Amino acid sequence: MKKLIVAIDGPSGSGKSTLSRLLARELNYIHIDTGAMYRTVALAARRGGIAADDHESLGRLCTELTIHFERHDLQERVFLNGEDVSAVIRTPEMSLLTSRVSASPAVRTAMVELQRAMGLHGGVVLEGRDIGTVVFPAAEVKFFLSASDQARGQRRYEELRAKGLDVSLEQTIAEVVERDRADQQRLLAPLRQPADAVVIDSTTMTIQQVLDLMLTEVRARESLDGELQ
Ligand code: DC
Repeated sequence: MKKLIVAIDGPSGSGKSTLSRLLARELNYIHIDTGAMYRTVALAARRGGIAADDHESLGRLCTELTIHFERHDLQERVFLNGEDVSAVIRTPEMSLLTSRVSASPAVRTAMVELQRAMGLHGGVVLEGRDIGTVVFPAAEVKFFLSASDQARGQRRYEELRAKGLDVSLEQTIAEVVERDRADQQRLLAPLRQPADAVVIDSTTMTIQQVLDLMLTEVRARESLDGELQ
């Protein structure tokens, strides 16, 4: 079976992370969380005292740092220069900073290059905001996940509370909506629905229902590509 490139885009709380992880596991593909990469750059910038609009320093920072992923007992971890930063990149403060840092041209150029190198040989599920539009516009399968603001905020709220963070539901919904607005309105690689994507609104669907739908799409494409070879 040919190993494909699967692109999953969508706003925060749309279910991208959970579903791309599960889909990659089912297909025995590699999962690449590009949001975690931008979060890691944002963390390095904050630690280095680099402002989100200091594009030159951000560009230099990207050439100096290393980012890699590891899987431990089905748990995915992200490393900055060898340090496990998986937990510290997930605070609401880091989410907002990441949205700003990820709008920097120098950061996007560096991360897109890295993502293309990681996905080059196929057998990958990449999740993000611009995978099907910019990183791999020729990806064999593209999904665009969405859900209502309320549902996305609620999911993010439950995630943060489960980690012991003292956040309110109203504030979390407001932050999610604001971040998506910024991600959609930026000039460079904004969050957009690829014209050829399978669009899934997960508001009232279970994780299993969305996963089944995605698996059906990918398997159909895998066998089609197999026949054409
Ligand atoms: O998916 P996430 O919430 O972890 O992403 C964090 C931020 O990173 C998000 O607000 C926008 C940015 N991002 C991006 O610009 N491009 C991507 N491919 C992935 C994330």
